[in-house]
Amino acid sequence: MPDSRLPDARQILAAIPSPAILVGAADEVIGANGAALALFPRLRLGEPLWAGVRAPGILAATTAARGGGARAVEHIERVPVERHYAVQATAVPDAEGQVLLLFRDRTSELAAERMRTDFVANASHELRTPLASLIGFIETLQGAARNDANAREKFLGVMGDQARRMARLIDDLLSLSRIEMSRHLPPSTPVAIDGVVREAVDGLRMVAMDRGARLEASIAGGPWTVAGDRDELYRVIENLAENALKYGREGGRAEILVRPSAQPLGEGRAVEIVVRDDGVGIAPQHLPRLTERFYRADVRESRQKGGTGLGLALVKHIVGRHRGRLDIASELGKGSTFTVTLPLLP
Ligand SMILES: Nc1ncnc2c1ncn2[C@@H]1O[C@H](COP(=O)(O)OP(=O)(O)OP(=O)(O)O)[C@@H](O)[C@H]1O
Ligand SMILES: [Mg+2]
Repeated sequence: MPDSRLPDARQILAAIPSPAILVGAADEVIGANGAALALFPRLRLGEPLWAGVRAPGILAATTAARGGGARAVEHIERVPVERHYAVQATAVPDAEGQVLLLFRDRTSELAAERMRTDFVANASHELRTPLASLIGFIETLQGAARNDANAREKFLGVMGDQARRMARLIDDLLSLSRIEMSRHLPPSTPVAIDGVVREAVDGLRMVAMDRGARLEASIAGGPWTVAGDRDELYRVIENLAENALKYGREGGRAEILVRPSAQPLGEGRAVEIVVRDDGVGIAPQHLPRLTERFYRADVRESRQKGGTGLGLALVKHIVGRHRGRLDIASELGKGSTFTVTLPLLP
């Protein structure tokens, strides 16, 4: 006796969130849910599967599944955006050649995998470059330059720089993973942003002098108190201001403005910290990727200046943990503006 509470196949298909298609023995479409129709708009009930799904791999898997068991194939849709699916074709038991096609969207899984491998490749590459130079100098000091006091002095200086560069890279990577791990725990200590900005400006005097540039802070009103982690907020302002000096115009002017935000965050009041330079600016195609780890608009320039390309990734994660927002605006030839908006303590 069939159970009268059992829904029919169509109802079950409709309840499956990912694309699902039921195919009959003659390859005709018996059922398809909304997600399948969205993926294959030419799919029609009663029509052949191939008319709606023009993918030889899926058609072959459907035929093969009829022999019993299940078949898995990959399917890639390129329009409107590239999406990757794992498709499983399974013979429906005791249903005379019917096959159920289930699609699982693997796009974000693959993107995460790609990010992970890119990250390992990038990190290894960034470490290998200074390491290769260290090894080179060590070999020279053991050989040709063994008794050359001048060369020794000079090489040890360079070796020190390279070793510090590696240490900084590792520190930055560890900070990043620590901040990422605590992203669900917003920091809660009251921090006066104006003080942090003044301290960062003082700390960057030497960098500014090297570039013959001016760095000025202008703080409107205050006190500006946010719930935060002081060291992390210092890093945010330090990296943005350091970038403004490093990538800004030689002999140029960088400024940090602290002022009430025109676009509040959520309910409460917010403060904005604007870091602005009058340098070469950033081409629009770089803007969306600038906060990715190791991404640089100009890799050679950044390396020359001792950069690792982790600064803005750190900034983004810290701002996120503080429930704030980072906006980047730039115009080639005119300069760049980085704006951090943070919720104020009531
Ligand atoms: N104010 C700016 N003007 C022009 N380009 C910038 C500016 N700030 C950042 N960039 C570009 O964005 C890239 C990434 O910046 P980020 O701070 O993440 O790394 P970095 O400065 O190269 O290295 P690090 O901060 O780790 O020392 C830089 O390499 C540079 O190409
Ligand atoms: Mg930087």
